[in-house]
Amino acid sequence: MTTEQAIALTQQYLMSTYRRAPVAFSHGEGVWLVDLEGKRYLDFVGGIAVSALGHAHPVLVAAIQAQAARLLHVSNLYHIAEQAYLAQWLVEHSACDRAFFCNSGAEANEAAIKLSRKWGKRNGANRYEIIVAHQSFHGRTMATLAATMQPKYQEAFSPLPPGFVPVPFNDLEATRAAVTERTCAVLLEPIQGESGIQPATLEYLTGVRGLCDERGLLLMLDEVQTGIGRTGTLFAYEQYGIVPDVLTLAKGLGGGFPIGAMLARESACGFSPGDHGSTFGGNPLACAAALAVLRVVEGERLAERAVAMGSVLAAGLRVLVDGGLAKAARGRGLLLALELNGEAAPVVDACRREGLLVNAVAPTALRFAPPLVVQRSEIEQALEILGRVLEAPQAPAGTGAPVQ
Ligand SMILES: Cc1ncc(COP(=O)(O)O)c(C=O)c1O
Repeated sequence: MTTEQAIALTQQYLMSTYRRAPVAFSHGEGVWLVDLEGKRYLDFVGGIAVSALGHAHPVLVAAIQAQAARLLHVSNLYHIAEQAYLAQWLVEHSACDRAFFCNSGAEANEAAIKLSRKWGKRNGANRYEIIVAHQSFHGRTMATLAATMQPKYQEAFSPLPPGFVPVPFNDLEATRAAVTERTCAVLLEPIQGESGIQPATLEYLTGVRGLCDERGLLLMLDEVQTGIGRTGTLFAYEQYGIVPDVLTLAKGLGGGFPIGAMLARESACGFSPGDHGSTFGGNPLACAAALAVLRVVEGERLAERAVAMGSVLAAGLRVLVDGGLAKAARGRGLLLALELNGEAAPVVDACRREGLLVNAVAPTALRFAPPLVVQRSEIEQALEILGRVLEAPQAPAGTGAPVQ
């Protein structure tokens, strides 16, 4: 198939839910993707912070092949050894005590929302409100959309489930003022991803932890985008010196194989059999893939690598800012954004034509989330392309507009 044919079939047969760039890939290796015509691209999108190990990592490929040949699926009617090992690994490496597995970030947050509602019913008379931040992103299901405080995602789908109370991000006083006798939890991203890579301040996150302790609320951190080494520690919360009561993960956890997880401290674990479930969640294949990812992340110290390589990339982005080619760089580890002087879409398109994949995380900002295995030379190559593109006059916008 050619890219042209892939585009034609997509336009004819798929629902129009994505603004796609005019490119289709055949295969990948490490940080590189190859399109159907054989052109090579440096992948600094990383499947939107998913491909932690890069493409076709031999350990992940071997784990998936071996598990697929042994056992794909049995259902949660039975004990699943791979699921138990994965839960053990995550519990031993986090502040949480138990895990629930599902298939995506939205499902992990749905599970967290349900867990906190049940917890709220047990710990007071009908506490069900969850405080969330403006510009948050927690998913596309109806409850996670209700928690996603961005009107552009919500407007077409009202009425949304009630019980989500918005406050400005990084505003501790507003968060404190939003707590009522009905509040059961606060749900936050430690670094807001889809609204442009906006980190929570240390004062805010430690302040919210204190507020939750004081008022008896669950602190639920959505680390779907920031987790699994991406920001320089296995979980971003470690950099804030706090622990959450509930933690949600997906994206990097499977390195490209779909899996989500909700972890919780024992005190928050109120589910009983029948309360929640998923046919596919935590099946042997998904868990074998995630275990392989986590063992490589730990064994190859990829979180530390995210710090080292992230500082190379951030320094290069700051050079572009200092040279007047962009406005500001922000983020942590290998989750970075560059605020541009103008529209991001034509820059995304021009970079792609030059063999660099980046995406517009906001109308005027680029996101960089390359695989954690990225090499210094690949970062230098990406910065060289980006610098060249930013220096050239931009063509009108094509398909590089912000999409999630
Ligand atoms: C912080 C955060 N939470 C939740 C989600 C939803 O994850 P998924 O697309 O796997 O449902 C995303 C996706 O971008 C995200 O960035």
